[in-house]
Amino acid sequence: MGKVTLSPKILDVLDFGTPSAERDISRGLEKYFVESDAYQRVRSGAKTILMGNRGAGKSAIFQVLAKRERAAGSHVIELSPEDYSYELLSSTMEAEDAGSWAKQGAYAAAWKYLIYVLVMKALARKGMRLTKGGGREIHNYIRDNHGAHQLGPLSLLVSYLKRLEAIKLGPIEAGLRTRELDRLYKLEEIHNLQPALKKVLDGQRVIVLVDELDRGWDSSEDAKAFVSGLFQACVSINGLHENLRVYVSLRQELYDDIPALYDDAQKHRDLLEKIYWSEESLLELIAKRIRYSAHEKGFDVEALERAGDRACWSAVFASPPGQGRDAAFRYMVDRTLYRPREIIQFCSEALAQARRRASKLPVPYSAIERCEYGYSAERTRDIAAEYRSQYPGLLSIFEVFRSRPHTFDREELELLCLELAVGEIPTRGTESWLPNCYPNDLIEVLWRSGLLTAQANGDGTFLGSHQVQHLNIAAVKRFRIHEMFRSSLGIATPEGAAPGG
Ligand SMILES: Nc1ncnc2c1ncn2[C@@H]1O[C@H](COP(=O)(O)OP(=O)(O)O)[C@@H](O)[C@H]1O
Ligand SMILES: [Mg+2]
Repeated sequence: MGKVTLSPKILDVLDFGTPSAERDISRGLEKYFVESDAYQRVRSGAKTILMGNRGAGKSAIFQVLAKRERAAGSHVIELSPEDYSYELLSSTMEAEDAGSWAKQGAYAAAWKYLIYVLVMKALARKGMRLTKGGGREIHNYIRDNHGAHQLGPLSLLVSYLKRLEAIKLGPIEAGLRTRELDRLYKLEEIHNLQPALKKVLDGQRVIVLVDELDRGWDSSEDAKAFVSGLFQACVSINGLHENLRVYVSLRQELYDDIPALYDDAQKHRDLLEKIYWSEESLLELIAKRIRYSAHEKGFDVEALERAGDRACWSAVFASPPGQGRDAAFRYMVDRTLYRPREIIQFCSEALAQARRRASKLPVPYSAIERCEYGYSAERTRDIAAEYRSQYPGLLSIFEVFRSRPHTFDREELELLCLELAVGEIPTRGTESWLPNCYPNDLIEVLWRSGLLTAQANGDGTFLGSHQVQHLNIAAVKRFRIHEMFRSSLGIATPEGAAPGG
């Protein structure tokens, strides 16, 4: 494929979109969406629990799914951050040890109640002159029970939980308590509507999307019961009818942070879709954005449309002299954990840099180098922040690597980790977990978070947790600081590994 030259004017208007899917969707995400197999499995309903790191594309899949389902006439219910507040739950609900509470089960029942009510509301709203096929019953239930007082989703959920709590912890005679609880767990209020609901669902489709559960995550008892209860509810509701699908997205760390989910992993595994990206698919993602943006701005993009992803890339980003045309891509993708948000941000910053000094495309390689420090510093902070609830103070551990060599033998690294655990090297905010950490545990944490890459076999390559799913870290002899963190931590890059020198 030949070289593509772009009009100098494109430099002024080119853009890679925004780093979050919620904002991207109104700017054309659907048109430049990379349709992965993961998306297909979610769309078909084979997978209903979507897992991925921050910025990996969970919301993108949900946003595109929502748009397409709406276009096909389905009802789409989206539950997102404003709709839940972990702090509020913790301050509203009694603690588990206040009685035999069995919170997870209570939350599961409350979620089922909430979702069924929302689904019936959606169905009751549109075309409920439906007098046959179950429509009338649902319509009447919603009118009589949820008509006048319009509670928001979280209030509905909390109100059901409160009913359960009152019976569990209240002064009620034991026999009565069991009966009352049984009624609430079985959702008696709406249970008899299920046949009607099934009939309505024969002709209409409802999709429920629960996203951004990690917003405001505080690792509290209620937060954990809230999410594990949702999983149970999701599995149960998805068994009702193929035209009713509840989808949940979750970050890996959250999943790991909830023992109840971990224990149930076997039950969920076949429903779970994890988002992975490769270098090729990230290149495709950027190439699509380049083509779309140029086209939107009214440029003739025939040459770009014909060009492969690599040619498209190199029309926008130049390689250093004497290096292959994807050297700049290599350089940038090596400084990511393979998440779309990272490559979009890095590319956008390099483009902004270039605009300050150059007047035409491609973006010179020096522009990438100039914005690397800022990008690296932001990523380092953000990654540490992602682990705020599980490993507080992680940033101060990252800082310990400042100005040290980029590569460590296991013995050196173990010693360093030991010094960290016993406090010989001071860190901040890590008291709750670091002192209990064996060197190997800490190495594992640093590998999972992305800071460390591991030499997995004899051929010298170092792999990060974004590149391999399973790796026996205990057997690894050499580790290396990932390139993304190096600039911000002042760690030199090994000879020969830097493109351009
Ligand atoms: N399959 C995809 N195709 C195109 N862009 C994507 C895709 N997945 C993610 N993105 C983009 O990557 C960025 C981060 O994705 P987002 O869905 O917001 O991440 P999160 O997993 O945190 O919800 C957004 O700009 C989004 O549009
Ligand atoms: Mg998101």
